[in-house]
Amino acid sequence: MTVTAEMHENGTSPEKLLAPVLSAFWDEPESWTLETYRRHEGYEGLRKALAMTPDDLIAYVKDSGLRGRGGAGFPTGMKWQFIPQGDGKPHYLVVNADESEPGTCKDIPLLFANPHSLIEGMIIACYAIRSEHAFIYLRGETVPVLRRLHEAVREAYEAGYLGEAEHRQKSGLGSGLKLDITVHAGAGAYICGEETALLDSLEGRRGQPRLRPPFPAVEGLYACPTVVNNVESIASVPAILNKGKDWFKSMGTEKSPGFTLYSLSGHVVGPGQYEAPLGITLRQLLDMSGGMRPGHRLKFWTPGGSSTPMFTDEHLDVPLDYEGVAAAGSMLGTKALQCFDETTCVVRAVTRWTEFYAHESCGKCTPCREGTYWLVQLLRDIEAGKGLMSDLDKLNDIADNINGKSFCALGDGAASPIFSSLKYFRAEYEQHITGKGCPFDPKKSTLWADGPALNSEVTA
Ligand SMILES: Cc1cc2nc3c(=O)[nH]c(=O)nc-3n(C[C@H](O)[C@H](O)[C@H](O)COP(=O)(O)O)c2cc1C
Ligand code: SF4
Repeated sequence: MTVTAEMHENGTSPEKLLAPVLSAFWDEPESWTLETYRRHEGYEGLRKALAMTPDDLIAYVKDSGLRGRGGAGFPTGMKWQFIPQGDGKPHYLVVNADESEPGTCKDIPLLFANPHSLIEGMIIACYAIRSEHAFIYLRGETVPVLRRLHEAVREAYEAGYLGEAEHRQKSGLGSGLKLDITVHAGAGAYICGEETALLDSLEGRRGQPRLRPPFPAVEGLYACPTVVNNVESIASVPAILNKGKDWFKSMGTEKSPGFTLYSLSGHVVGPGQYEAPLGITLRQLLDMSGGMRPGHRLKFWTPGGSSTPMFTDEHLDVPLDYEGVAAAGSMLGTKALQCFDETTCVVRAVTRWTEFYAHESCGKCTPCREGTYWLVQLLRDIEAGKGLMSDLDKLNDIADNINGKSFCALGDGAASPIFSSLKYFRAEYEQHITGKGCPFDPKKSTLWADGPALNSEVTA
């Protein structure tokens, strides 16, 4: 990206706003190898972690303020602390690499370009929770990432970071415990990203959420104490250990410290992953990345994937941290910033998302299984000009019967786009009903299969 004098002056130059840590050397040749990782202080965090006791290490991660990057923002150190000690049972670490939330595209690129940051983080986490076996549950469609992960794990065994206790001790990096990492490829279901469905799937069963309690920290994988963490959460740990918790806390905000990966997509000139301190705004990210495509303006966007209530151009200055987004009425979620311009029909976008939720609903509970089906029927009718005004209240009612009344958070996620689109764009729904059809020309909207490719328009 070219940095102009104007960008420097108004403080929107990438150097001023971005904080590349996990993505610092993604564009180097063979960024994924152990050799490259070591050249960038790889495995130094592990050395520092092993100099602490496991309890001190947990306290250190807790003090850093790191919050889980899988969506809910739960404090990572606190989650590790829940694992009972001296219980005589095996403990497990399971890394959630299912990444299926629409718009989210950070864990997969991270694993592809820098898999050792995750492996180092896993070794540190296993030392902290006294675990001898960790798993990576990867979205199965991403075969090139699967191959790369297998190779990185092989390199880590060879170098003595993983394996039998004696083998690890010889490399000077053992914790006195053996450590194995198993990479498991899922079969491509959104629900298997929900941590308890993931555990069932990993055990060989159909992936459906479990009733809680017991929570995974008490009875997780194979009914043993288990930590489930997102890829980015665990991959952030080595840098915190290596550079220090104060360095980490110098970025972001008081309650949401540190750096994080934002996935910017949609009608923007520069889609991609942007690593920045928590609390950056969409306006800043757009300013530095080239903005919306030429000649168009932002209409609506999601701060954390389609499961988080949508925002409009009124929210361009909302700080993208957990508190800032919540105060403005949404959730930071996975930090998937999907941007839609004025050519996009909001009814159409919400219909497509709802079709996704109906398809991915696991069917275990009635509000979500039946509710998502009926939402799709109503939305399709409205989109096709066959809707009634009373359907809008019905949409709201059905979403209300799903939200907070379903067995897992997939249901709440399905209700979010309904509530938020009706809140900001009710008039557009009404236009579909009174005008008996969609007022938008689908050929002008470029996000869907029947429109021209986004890039061809941008570069034209
Ligand atoms: C339907 C659904 C899908 C989810 N998908 C993912 C996912 O792909 N990756 C992820 O890390 N968390 C996902 N989560 C959240 C996990 O249940 C869990 O909170 C997370 O893995 C915890 O990691 P963290 O504490 O490091 O954020 C999903 C939750 C739900 C309800
Ligand atoms: S909310 Fe949906 S996905 Fe979750 S358990 Fe119920 S049916 Fe399954």
